[in-house]
Amino acid sequence: MTVKQIVLASRPDGAPGLQQFRTEEIELPALKEGEVLLRPLYVSVDPYMRGRMRDVESYIPPFQVDKPLEGGVVAIVEESRFAALKPGDKVSGMLPWATKFIAEGSKLQPIGDVDVPDSYNLGILGTTGYTAYFGVVDILKPQPGQTIVISGAAGAVGVIAGQIAKLHGARIIGIAGSDEKNELLKKEFGFDEVINYNTEDIPAALARTCPDGIDGYLDNVGGDITDAVVARMNMQGKIALIGQIALYNAKEEPKGPRILYPILMKGLLVQGFLIRQHYSRWPEARQAIAKMISEGKLKSKETIVEGFDELPNAFLGLFKGSNIGKMIVKI
Ligand SMILES: NC(=O)c1ccc[n+]([C@@H]2O[C@H](COP(=O)([O-])OP(=O)(O)OC[C@H]3O[C@@H](n4cnc5c(N)ncnc54)[C@H](OP(=O)(O)O)[C@@H]3O)[C@@H](O)[C@H]2O)c1
Repeated sequence: MTVKQIVLASRPDGAPGLQQFRTEEIELPALKEGEVLLRPLYVSVDPYMRGRMRDVESYIPPFQVDKPLEGGVVAIVEESRFAALKPGDKVSGMLPWATKFIAEGSKLQPIGDVDVPDSYNLGILGTTGYTAYFGVVDILKPQPGQTIVISGAAGAVGVIAGQIAKLHGARIIGIAGSDEKNELLKKEFGFDEVINYNTEDIPAALARTCPDGIDGYLDNVGGDITDAVVARMNMQGKIALIGQIALYNAKEEPKGPRILYPILMKGLLVQGFLIRQHYSRWPEARQAIAKMISEGKLKSKETIVEGFDELPNAFLGLFKGSNIGKMIVKI
């Protein structure tokens, strides 16, 4: 059987572009015992994949040049030589960017335990949602009346984190890159105040929206935004370090204000967070999020791009702010 796959053609230096991707046709071998043939339904594109394009040691191995990219995928079983899965079953897993592929059945997670659209398993009911949940509930622990700031607020993690923090009675301030996104955050997702970092002076906007300082900060972006937030944190405030997308394409080590001194002087708690290190607790987050969805307390937001060939463009769009909520490609 001939299938298409998208491989990493070369490693980017700075901002990635379409030249980093190449589509190839390959022949799939026959299924071996324990394997299944899968067809992807939805493929997740995520900012951390930029890190995997670098040839450096990290918490996850780098992509290899000339080998397919891989990421979160929801797929349907077409053929099976794995007893626990039959044709028609839907699963999720870390799987290659290909129009069909063979996977070991034991490495796949069956979905369907929660009655939601399949794509949710790559967003609100996937590592994105779990990250937002633990970032807020475990690290920030918002209290009623506290001021919580979220950067990357209109992105996949940000939209969920803001809603969960709001459920704890906090005032939520979202920072995002356009007025359209910010309007949606206020109207649809209950954010109290919003800042457009592309058009506003960030320290002045933080002074306007956080007159009593900042008690908790969920950081998805880093860079200048985070420097300004740290300067306005209250004593013993908490920072959940989730992502630093503003730095992912930097060619040189960026130098900002030295934030460790203000962190010390304010007694801040700063916690770096990697969702993969909390694998054993994913079911707990899944259950809690499913409950909030079923009670109508938590809403999903997705940007769905259609077509396998659009995978590279969808990924690149993350760095241009093309998405609101979770960026997903429907195959
Ligand atoms: N630690 C973990 O385990 C974990 C898990 C999931 C995600 N993450 C991280 O969390 C962050 C959010 O991930 P996500 O999946 O929710 O992605 P996302 O926010 O849905 O997508 C990226 C968004 O980042 C914003 N952005 C892009 N370049 C920027 C820049 N230079 N400065 C400020 N904002 C920029 C864009 O929105 P604007 O229009 O607002 O610019 C874009 O839509 C990422 O940094 C990701 O790596 C970490």
